[in-house]
Amino acid sequence: MSTSNYPVDMTSKPEVKAFFDPATNTISYVVKDPATNACAVVDSVMDIDYAAGRITYDHADEIIAYIQEKDLKLEWLIETHVHADHLSAAPYIQQKLGGKLGIGEKITVVQETFGKVFNEGTEFQRDGSQFDKLFKDGDTYQIGELTAFVIYTPGHTPACMVHVMGDAAFVGDTLFMPDGGSARADFPGGDAAMLYDSIQKLLALPDAMRLFMCHDYGPNGRDIQWETTVGDEKEHNIHVGGGKSKSEFVKFRTERDAVLDMPKLIIPSLQVNMRAGQLPPSEDNGKTFLKVPVNGL
Ligand SMILES: [Fe+2]
Repeated sequence: MSTSNYPVDMTSKPEVKAFFDPATNTISYVVKDPATNACAVVDSVMDIDYAAGRITYDHADEIIAYIQEKDLKLEWLIETHVHADHLSAAPYIQQKLGGKLGIGEKITVVQETFGKVFNEGTEFQRDGSQFDKLFKDGDTYQIGELTAFVIYTPGHTPACMVHVMGDAAFVGDTLFMPDGGSARADFPGGDAAMLYDSIQKLLALPDAMRLFMCHDYGPNGRDIQWETTVGDEKEHNIHVGGGKSKSEFVKFRTERDAVLDMPKLIIPSLQVNMRAGQLPPSEDNGKTFLKVPVNGL
């Protein structure tokens, strides 16, 4: 679908509240419909002390407290993609506040790939049925009276989706802030050329569209930031701005990805996030375990 076919509505300006998680440099969002008290949560984080195998929910509890304090009604929990650097807290929040959990329909590709990597048994469904909604390009959904839509943006992973809610787009790992560039494209199913094309779809949105990042690492010592605009990215993004060509981007991205270490939390993140944020089923002693595939990634 070309960008002009999406139902863009810049007149609707949702209230966006950001929650920064310093442990994983992730930003989670609560997005409120301007006309009602309906809201959505985008990319929540479950806390893990991986060395200790300990899971807690301080970050999610902060989001829950905010929603309760403002008396909002949670209608959607959105995952922009299967994150490899933090664990989702979506089921924990859903259990407390309700709402539907959605991700891109290509989650099935991710489940197939990592179901094999972690040697999951047949009880691990690879059909995305752990989620309430699987989005495809151009799908719309309601947050109160606000109509949101999705843009399919593969490249970083095969299931990446950008969610546009009024004049605000939640870009996942498609783009970083202009001085951060773009996310890696070397995970299984990732592709630098596809990422370039996906970014072009975003840059074709109106210049004034607000863009909200999923991550920021404060490059060159600057403070953490998470909000920019299409116009700003188009002009200043260090990887794609100023009209950089696809071949320049692919060359740069491929060379850069070759020297990046794996994200610290990739192993627990994938096992949990491919299950929509659920932990693997408990074993016969009633305990839950996360696996480490030796030389498997
Ligand atoms: Fe990611």
